[in-house]
Amino acid sequence: MFSVTCVAPVNIALIKYWGKRNEDLILPINDSVSMTLRTDELCAETTITASESFYSNKMWLNGEEVPFEENTRILRCLNEVHRLAICAGSQKIPLSWKIHVKSFNNFPTAAGLASSAAGYACLVYSLACLYGIPVNDQLTTVARQGSGSACRSLYGGFVQWHRGNLDSGCDSVAKQVVSSKFWPNMHLIILVVNDQRKNTGSTLGMQRSVQTSQLIQHRADKVVPERVNQLKTAIHKHDFDTFAKITMKDSNQFHAIAMDTYPPCVYMNETSHSIVSFVHDFNELMGSSLIAYTFDAGPNACLYVLEENIPKLIYAINKAFPNDEESADYLRGIPLSNLDIQSKT
Ligand code: DP6
Repeated sequence: MFSVTCVAPVNIALIKYWGKRNEDLILPINDSVSMTLRTDELCAETTITASESFYSNKMWLNGEEVPFEENTRILRCLNEVHRLAICAGSQKIPLSWKIHVKSFNNFPTAAGLASSAAGYACLVYSLACLYGIPVNDQLTTVARQGSGSACRSLYGGFVQWHRGNLDSGCDSVAKQVVSSKFWPNMHLIILVVNDQRKNTGSTLGMQRSVQTSQLIQHRADKVVPERVNQLKTAIHKHDFDTFAKITMKDSNQFHAIAMDTYPPCVYMNETSHSIVSFVHDFNELMGSSLIAYTFDAGPNACLYVLEENIPKLIYAINKAFPNDEESADYLRGIPLSNLDIQSKT
């Protein structure tokens, strides 16, 4: 019997992946860029045991058994890892042995907090460890076939998923832009607006967008390529102001496309929109963009902020959206400038 346990963190996209050109191989219509969180934060933990005596492959997610043999994405990941093990000549354990997979997320599953990214990255990484395969760009093509965004969680720091051009998907890989050490004071604060499962999952939502949105192709062809380059330059220069503007614009454009989808995918709610206004007011008051919001396929806000600005931000959030009152000051229309937020550094 062999067993491995691995942990993989969530990544939060700055330039969003939205839309596939091949549903089976999970090939995207545009590049995307994200930041991977640390492994002691939001993450998935997976234990895989392989044994000669196991009768069938099985999987449990957060303690509940989920179908294995019926799940084409899981099967594809397993088959692809087997293929890589054969290519690498690795004979660590026999490929015929069945496996049992136990995976836990330490945060709400499917609430728009990138749970599938961490989950599939962890599954593929654990399989690679089990069968003795190195972690490299090729392995990201396997994670991509579990869930597109998962390929970016195999690396830390800022990561770009290249859409690639080949029909085989061999060049649709994730690559690290810079490690987390490059911008160590970059932080992410997540405001959990709602931790329930989202109405329209990302897979279905983006499928509908590709079929019905008239804006999505323009975004993929004209907007994203330039934005990716600008964002990478901002990261290399530690230019937070530009980084923030691109991130917020891309989040807004992704949700505009979600709304341009028919029927529309409504992921943000009233509180999400209040947070957007709050961030713009805060940045205006501070004289430059000190916070960047981004929203995935759900109402929860992810706020990028440099470490030195966290106290100011937390102070302002607590003033604007106090937890202990029926309704927040900001929602009651009390402007930020009246909340004395500049007194905190
Ligand atoms: C809005 O990776 O969950 O989070 O490939 O169908 O599994 P599938 O979709 P998924 O989509 C993530 C979409 C997003 C944006 C992003 O992370 O880039």
